[in-house]
Amino acid sequence: MDPLRDSWGREIKSVRVSVTDKCNFRCTYCMPAEGLQWLGREEILTFEEIARLVGVLARLGVDEVRLTGGEPLVRRDLPLLVEMLAQTEGVRDLSLTTNGILLDRLAGPLVSAGLRRINVSLDSLNHVRFAEITRRDALDAVLRGLEEAERHPELNPIKVNCVAVKGFTETEVPALADLARRKPYVVRFIEFMPLDADEAWREDDVLTGAEIRAIVEECYGPLLELPAKASSTARRFRFADGVGELGFVNPVSEPFCSNCDRIRVTADGQLRTCLFSRREWDLKAALRGGASDDELIRLIRFAVQHKELKHRINDPGFVRASRSMSQIGG
Ligand code: GTP
Ligand code: 5AD
Ligand code: SF4
Repeated sequence: MDPLRDSWGREIKSVRVSVTDKCNFRCTYCMPAEGLQWLGREEILTFEEIARLVGVLARLGVDEVRLTGGEPLVRRDLPLLVEMLAQTEGVRDLSLTTNGILLDRLAGPLVSAGLRRINVSLDSLNHVRFAEITRRDALDAVLRGLEEAERHPELNPIKVNCVAVKGFTETEVPALADLARRKPYVVRFIEFMPLDADEAWREDDVLTGAEIRAIVEECYGPLLELPAKASSTARRFRFADGVGELGFVNPVSEPFCSNCDRIRVTADGQLRTCLFSRREWDLKAALRGGASDDELIRLIRFAVQHKELKHRINDPGFVRASRSMSQIGG
């Protein structure tokens, strides 16, 4: 089968599948305090529909699958889906991005189902500040979730994601950098992107990876860059003494679109070829309308031919994506 390639020559190897738009946090950089209008149960793809799509994508050479949300662990019976996907031929790398609050209970079942990699959001190690940014007093639960993940050596690496917001994150950086040294977690700082449902994002709110690196280096000395995969969202660094790894995901100050190998499927079965897409392709209608695998493949290839060259966050007249982060799926 011909690989899945866009019209700019990029090969698509990775799919991010959102399993729910719901979330039990209300991170200020993502959701409004009152939440959003959630999708209805029938609007959401079933596990069978997701597994069929992933199977078709795997035949096209897409060998990395990441489950996201909303918060993926609020989807009932998620380990069942993990098990279905782990057994899908061609799926080489199956991972999950979570806010961690339910991980304490679910890490074991997820690992038994075949999960091998996990990324956990954590924006502060201070209780008050954690509650300020997530609007939930859940720091201890998330730390318990991480500890539980650590008890399963199959989960490797464990990554911690911190969305960096100017005027908030500067003071959190030293403790998060220290976490990367104390614990077997790769701690990554992510630049705030204009995907918040409140549309409050301003260019001035972006704390860049370079600014954070300077704060870290002031405390810990120079960071040394490590090699990363071309398609990686993150640049990787180690501390000079070799203890601990940090990552910087810099979509705003150092866009990585030219090496993007990703597509996304929303919880309601819409194919998005970019986080910032203004257009979606209705896979759910095709699935539920009785499309054959070949018909699905034709639709996917057609959509991928229209994959955006890059995001235009930094261009004058930038138009926001058609949905916010939790509705798209990280
Ligand atoms: P690894 O495969 O473990 O490196 O994970 P990842 O960085 O691809 O995924 P994760 O879910 O941890 O996402 C980290 C951050 O990168 C989130 O804020 C994502 O929204 C962002 N991200 C992931 N893919 C893209 C992308 O294609 N474009 C942009 N601009 N951001 C992305
Ligand atoms: N900008 C950057 N990252 C974001 N995330 C959620 N909203 C934003 C935003 N506006 C992150 C989450 C999670 C990942 C899937 O996306 O914290 O780590
Ligand atoms: Fe929930 Fe993730 Fe959005 Fe926070 S960033 S509100 S954890 S979906």
